[in-house]
Amino acid sequence: MKVIHAADAMQRLALQWRKSNQRVALVPTMGYLHAGHLSLVHEARRRVGPAGLVVLSIYVNPTQFAPHEDLSRYPRDFARDRQLCRKAGVDVIFAPDNEAMYPGKEQGQYSTFVVEEVLGRELEGGTRPTHFRGVTTVVAKLFNLVLPELAVFGAKDFQQSAILRRMVKDLNFPIEMVVAPTVREPDGLAMSSRNKYLSRSERRTALVLSYGMEVARRLLLRHPGGLPVQKVVDPVARIINSQPAARLDYLAFVDPLTLQPQKRVRPGVQMTLAVFVGKTRLIDNTRL
Ligand code: PAF
Repeated sequence: MKVIHAADAMQRLALQWRKSNQRVALVPTMGYLHAGHLSLVHEARRRVGPAGLVVLSIYVNPTQFAPHEDLSRYPRDFARDRQLCRKAGVDVIFAPDNEAMYPGKEQGQYSTFVVEEVLGRELEGGTRPTHFRGVTTVVAKLFNLVLPELAVFGAKDFQQSAILRRMVKDLNFPIEMVVAPTVREPDGLAMSSRNKYLSRSERRTALVLSYGMEVARRLLLRHPGGLPVQKVVDPVARIINSQPAARLDYLAFVDPLTLQPQKRVRPGVQMTLAVFVGKTRLIDNTRL
């Protein structure tokens, strides 16, 4: 397994691979890997085959964090990530630093960003208005540096995947977007590097996200023809906000492709929510 830090070295290698018709899959991550990330690696491997190449990028991208967010304390453990990647059969870790990804930014010499203008306005974009501009920019850059034929993302970041899929289409990236299912802890909590921030009691409280989705699913089972959104939002919000350490940030029912808010909760609608548990903000979603 190779570890590459320099952007130009990554791109030179990617160009060589392209010349020799190597199949390449990219798994973009911010590191502090867990079983969810490893499932993306396995999906990448399954798709490119044993002779293909799986590149996993590790980069805590500052442009997707607002100044008050957790950039400086975002968990990092490169040695452990490296071991996990080796075991999972990653061929190349691309781990650039800020100067490699945003050369000259500190000196005001970096000024190009990629912005998706519609799908990112609400939900995560409502609470984190600059977040997706950072995500689309860094992913577009990773695509140009690694030149993969496919890239694998996790379904937990549902809105991110929808926006990146739109970016790939709108900007004609010759890249297949693959979205792999969310991996959960045995008790239902979606795996996330941010779960590390939770205290023992917050970890228990965090189950309100998956429980809230279960409540919505049960309500829909009792009303298979659908029911008005408020009839689901109210009980789920009550359950979440009844936990002293939990505060609902948003709960929405949207079309899975256009992200348009729905008036009725029907089978096939995407339920998506964000909840503060203590100071940690967690997200989850499910197709009902
Ligand atoms: O989902 C993530 O971990 C990040 O948003 C991504 C796609 C690696 C971009 O920094």
